Amino acid sequence: MSSPNERTLVLVKPDGVSRGLVGEVLHRIETKGYRLVAMDLRVPGRDLLAEHYAEHHGKPFYAGLVDFMSSGPVVAIVAEGQRVVEGFRSLAGPTDPTVAPPGTIRGDLGRDWGHGITENVVHGSDSRESASREIKIWFPEL
Ligand code: RTP
Ligand code: MG
Repeated sequence: MSSPNERTLVLVKPDGVSRGLVGEVLHRIETKGYRLVAMDLRVPGRDLLAEHYAEHHGKPFYAGLVDFMSSGPVVAIVAEGQRVVEGFRSLAGPTDPTVAPPGTIRGDLGRDWGHGITENVVHGSDSRESASREIKIWFPEL
């Protein structure tokens, strides 16, 4: 499914913000041709993260993931454009930055730092339904 108003939620995760990669991620979204709709820098609370990562409750990496995601500021972004959900997932690349192909955000900018958690620079919604759910969590005013 696609629509001219399709939107996705992108997060520049704490590793991306602390390493000064916000501009690079924004550059890739903008040069791909997507439109920025909303953007906010904040340290997410554990309640917001529990909602955001509801699908991962109970998984072995869940506690470490919430610790990591609440460890510092993130930049939450809503981007818009035809097939932007699929398009940003393609820009981001696969979850594991060690094997994500060069050319992708995770492949070019991420690596395993030996912290025992997958630090992979960005999040992108994985479907239009997820995007709509996640945008309501991060930007209830939209
Ligand atoms: P994201 O939601 O952040 O865009 O990443 P994704 O769809 O590629 O991966 P997902 O399966 O949704 O996992 C969410 C985040 O949890 C961390 N993770 N660690 N086995 C592990 O250690 C593991 N698996 C997932 C990553 O930070 C991943 O992005
Ligand atoms: Mg995901």
